[in-house]
Amino acid sequence: MLRLKLNKFFIILITLHICLHYSCNTNKPTKKLTIGFAQTGINDQWRKSMIKDMEIEVAFYPNINLKVLDGKDDIENQIKNLEELILEKVDIIIVSPVKSKPITPYVEKALKAGIPVLVVDRKIDGQNYTAYLGGDNEQVGVNVANYISSIAGNDPKKIIEIKGLKGSSPAYDRSISFNKIINKTNNLNVVHSIEGNWEEYSIKDSLKSFLKKEKDINYIYAHNDRMALGAWDVLKELNLDNHVDIIGVDGLNEPNGGIQLVKDNILKATVFYPTGGHEAIKLAIEILNGEKVNKNNTLETILIDSRNADIMKHQFDKIYEHQLDIIKQQEKIKQQEDTYTEQSNTLKIVLALFIISMALGIYSIYSSYNIRKKKRELEIINKKITKQKKEIKKIANEAELSNEAKVNFFTALSHEFKTPITLILSSIESLTEKQSTYKNNLKNEISVIFNNSKRLLRLTNQLLDFRKVEESKFTLKASETNLLDFSKGIFNDFESEARKRNINFTLETNNKDLSIFIDRNLMDKVYFNLLSNAFKFTPNDGDISIKITDHKERNFINVCFKDSGIGIPSDDLNTIFNAFTIASNNTKASSGIGLHLSKEFIELHKGSIDVDSKLGTEFTLKLYKGDTHLKPEEITYQSAVIDQSIITLDNEDDDNYFSETSINKNSNTGYSILIIEDNLDLIKYLESKLNINYNVHLSNGIDGIEKALEIIPDLIICDVNLPDKDGYVICEILKNDLRTSHIPIIMLTVLDNEESYLKGLHSGIDSYLTKPFSFSVLSQSIKTLIYNQEKFRYNFLHNVKDINFKKNIATTEQDFILEINEIIKKNRTNSTLSEESIAADLNISKIQLNKKLNAILGISISDYLQIEKDKNALNK
Ligand code: FRU
Repeated sequence: MLRLKLNKFFIILITLHICLHYSCNTNKPTKKLTIGFAQTGINDQWRKSMIKDMEIEVAFYPNINLKVLDGKDDIENQIKNLEELILEKVDIIIVSPVKSKPITPYVEKALKAGIPVLVVDRKIDGQNYTAYLGGDNEQVGVNVANYISSIAGNDPKKIIEIKGLKGSSPAYDRSISFNKIINKTNNLNVVHSIEGNWEEYSIKDSLKSFLKKEKDINYIYAHNDRMALGAWDVLKELNLDNHVDIIGVDGLNEPNGGIQLVKDNILKATVFYPTGGHEAIKLAIEILNGEKVNKNNTLETILIDSRNADIMKHQFDKIYEHQLDIIKQQEKIKQQEDTYTEQSNTLKIVLALFIISMALGIYSIYSSYNIRKKKRELEIINKKITKQKKEIKKIANEAELSNEAKVNFFTALSHEFKTPITLILSSIESLTEKQSTYKNNLKNEISVIFNNSKRLLRLTNQLLDFRKVEESKFTLKASETNLLDFSKGIFNDFESEARKRNINFTLETNNKDLSIFIDRNLMDKVYFNLLSNAFKFTPNDGDISIKITDHKERNFINVCFKDSGIGIPSDDLNTIFNAFTIASNNTKASSGIGLHLSKEFIELHKGSIDVDSKLGTEFTLKLYKGDTHLKPEEITYQSAVIDQSIITLDNEDDDNYFSETSINKNSNTGYSILIIEDNLDLIKYLESKLNINYNVHLSNGIDGIEKALEIIPDLIICDVNLPDKDGYVICEILKNDLRTSHIPIIMLTVLDNEESYLKGLHSGIDSYLTKPFSFSVLSQSIKTLIYNQEKFRYNFLHNVKDINFKKNIATTEQDFILEINEIIKKNRTNSTLSEESIAADLNISKIQLNKKLNAILGISISDYLQIEKDKNALNK
């Protein structure tokens, strides 16, 4: 992400840079060239004029830089300047040597350093330079000699020559050419030579002393106008100025220049010696541009005297004006160029910004397109994630449910184990007691131990089968079996229970000879499971049927197990075959894997099992005929041995077991106990143990409340998991009913957690025993509860006056007694007050009134009426 951002940033930066680079292009060469000028000196007018001309010319070339170094008319200084320019590596050197000889090696040094050298005005020794440019000094000498000759006439005339600096080439050239011509004349003679150094002071003394001796002089030839003016000063001083004509050189058009001196008759004539400033720059640029140039470039000279001085001045003025115009125009052009450059730059910046903004605009469109695309992609990913999340949640929920189901399964299974273990333990406990070893009791105990051990074994086998199914370790061992005979075998096992409970149990088929390939062991388990369930949930007097249907034209058969039991809620039908799942209305002890195993076993046969529940429940098996649906290794031709562990030893006649009341005449205390329990073994066990001392009444749970109201027992033992209402509900109803509220209730349950215990206490129970329980504990609990009840009665009967109802009697019982008292009080004077009228006022029967009062106080209503009468008498 960061890399992408940086890339975008650099693209914009580069675009901006390119745009600015091109927008700010001024059309000038990027490299500045430097012309280094080692000038002789910069103080005299001629040199100043030369530099000025150079600067004017350089101004036309914006990429050219002119660097002028002042030699101060001194060799050493000029050498130093040359060294500096060489070191600086200027692009070209222009040099006007003070003297020829000493400067020559430095010109060569510059050339060796790769710097071209243009020699101007004064020459060096030899020709080792790039080019030379300067006025023609020989012509200067010729011009002057010819001029004097033209004005001198034929009479002999004397001339003084004032020379320039010795060693400088102009001084030499101007002298040689002059003397050459003069020497050829008859009348002209150079009578004296003065060595000057180009400046006027250098000649004055020498000239004065000569003129003092030799006054008859006609002409003075000075190598430049400055020295000529010095000569005029001397002549004037000596009053000779009208006798001697002076001719100078340079002819500058300046206030003190040669042209003005001619016009002022100070000089007779002057030779115009051009500075060559313009030409030198032009030539230098040509050299820099690599153009081919002439090595020696000579500028014309011209003699100016009174005849052409004005014209020349006029010409020079014009040239000067032109120069000024050119300068002005140059400045204007420069200004316009600057303005143009500025405007052009502005325009280009605007253009660049426009391009950038266009680029940014395009980029932002592209970005927004990309963002939209990314957004769409993200939305799709988001949807996928949400879907996955939902799936994970669903899986998590399923896992949680499965886990919960497993926990429930193990809890249920533990409970399943508890009852048989209790019974086995209790039976063993009984067997150890001496008085239990009566013959008839022994048979009973052994039967309980046997049946419950079988039950435990069956549960264990179910668990092992489940594990085997989970690990796909079952291999079908199918053998051809007559289905009616097979079904009959199992049918017979359940027949006695059907008989006992008056259940209409039938087996029918439309083809007695129907044989199919089944694994008898597995199918036996399926049959047993389906029939056990049917018997578990079908009430007495109900219907259970097994119907085998052979679809003759088709390749499959159906076995239908139908009952008229409590049914399965429609919401549970989809999950009833899942492992550890128990129907929501199932209050019976169930492991929750029986149906799951049945389904797995049927599917091993490549068949299917379906459930339907409207009035009762109907399970339908679909099994295929023949053996083509089975693999060869799944078929066996040996008859399978059925695992006998599932068959219950049932050697007692249980008919009408619950309707009997067992009364042991020998040691009966006279107290009655109602046992509400649906486990027949437990019922039998408790009954056999308790009937020694009590009148025992039994209920399977469905009629528990009715029996309690009918009997009004002295104590009730109640299970929690019962077929119709659970134990808590039964207790709550009984404790809230005036007729039964006083009866102590012991709850006997496999649920040993705090929550279940609290639930029991809330429903009003008096004692809570968990399975497996010790019969001794149960027996003692019964005794204690009955003793407490008895103690209360005793207290009442012996302390009639002191009874404080509020403190000692439970609210319902207190209300009951108070209500009776109220009825008696109201009707004391009424002759109709009787046992019947009190029962009617209380809305219960006379028998129930007596039983209730007897249970609370141990007396009848008539006894109670008598006690109340006695109390009144005492109070009076
Ligand atoms: C200037 C000058 C001129 C003369 C020239 C010769 O310095 O003296 O007057 O003509 O040099 O190089």
